Amino acid sequence: MINKKYQAMLEGKSVIRQLSEYATARGAEIGYENVFDYSLGNPSVPTTPGFTKAMVDLLEKEDPMTLHGYSPSLTITSVRKAVAESLSRRFGLPYTYEEIFMTSGAAGAIAHAVRAVSQPGDEILTFAPFFPEYRPYIEGAGAVLKVVPADTETFQINFDAFEQMLTGKVAAVLINTPNNPSGIVYSTETIKRLAEILTRKSKELGQEIYIISDEPYREIVFAGVDAPVVSQYYDNTIVCYSFSKSLSLPGERIGYVAVNPRCKDAKLIIQMCGQISRGTGHNCPASIIQLAVAKVLDETSDLSVYETNMNLLYEKLVELGFTVVKPGGTFYIFPKALEEDAVAFCNKAKKYDLILVPSDSFGVPGFFRMAYCIDTEKVQRSLEALERFVKTEYPN
Ligand SMILES: Cc1ncc(COP(=O)(O)O)c(C=O)c1O
Repeated sequence: MINKKYQAMLEGKSVIRQLSEYATARGAEIGYENVFDYSLGNPSVPTTPGFTKAMVDLLEKEDPMTLHGYSPSLTITSVRKAVAESLSRRFGLPYTYEEIFMTSGAAGAIAHAVRAVSQPGDEILTFAPFFPEYRPYIEGAGAVLKVVPADTETFQINFDAFEQMLTGKVAAVLINTPNNPSGIVYSTETIKRLAEILTRKSKELGQEIYIISDEPYREIVFAGVDAPVVSQYYDNTIVCYSFSKSLSLPGERIGYVAVNPRCKDAKLIIQMCGQISRGTGHNCPASIIQLAVAKVLDETSDLSVYETNMNLLYEKLVELGFTVVKPGGTFYIFPKALEEDAVAFCNKAKKYDLILVPSDSFGVPGFFRMAYCIDTEKVQRSLEALERFVKTEYPN
């Protein structure tokens, strides 16, 4: 018999993907250049020349048996060493290769981290608004996702609600800063307070509560924004990183788990990742991609376009009367919709070929997300459509 759980999931397909498919279909009718597609978080800038060169060099010079052979079950040691060295130098924590495990993007990293620190039925807390794929990641691991309601004024953490939900059933707290979908970066004050609460509660309960820190947007932080390094504030932190956004490589499926060297059982957790891979059929990212990113760990694509786009959109949204918290990073902005029902709002926007994502699947009603990882020229043209949409549909 086919599996009922996965069959049922077909009914709850990603809203973002559905909107992206709509945008593509609409593009076939009127030309994609005329569709203001703010649906998908797919980077709009190319990867670095350094990454391309690393790939070419590897293909030309490296032994094909190494390049195309199986990677060790704990992933390639030289790559893990390079990641540890880069993290130690940049963030001042004493990482060694034994705290690093290469994964298939942040998705793969989260799948490993959740399995490593929870038992089936344990709760993982996250904060709204949150990336909707957390649900399948966590439920797929047999844990239970619990969502702490948002602080919609600032999109920092709603600590009152958090403390009430922080019981002995909680194995880990999954945070995402810079945040998809709000674009907000948690301040040092927020991270310190989170660490204090978790330290106190872990002691009180006599059990570890881990932070799983999902950091695919770590490198996309705008000028002057305070962006604390979570691991510096809380020992039991497991970072889930991805090169999807920083090096514009979402299709290569490459990232890593980095367990804070000061985390309890850090090296054991990494050893266990090798076993989790066996159980999930993960069996390591491609060797060639591991080797290539190891050569460009301190590089990023030219990410400046995202801040340019953010400023254009933010100013226009404010001018049009939207309530919106200014993003500190990522390539997302998360304004309040002009009516209570965000789905109705986003459906109306489609008439103007504006593809906006309603906030319901992010765990907060009444907002919408714009992924502005598109050409600046298109953002500029979209501003007129946005103005026409607002003035026609919401004249008061
Ligand atoms: C917050 C967040 N976490 C995880 C992921 C998954 O990233 P990856 O492509 O590296 O698996 C994404 C992708 O958009 C994301 O936005």
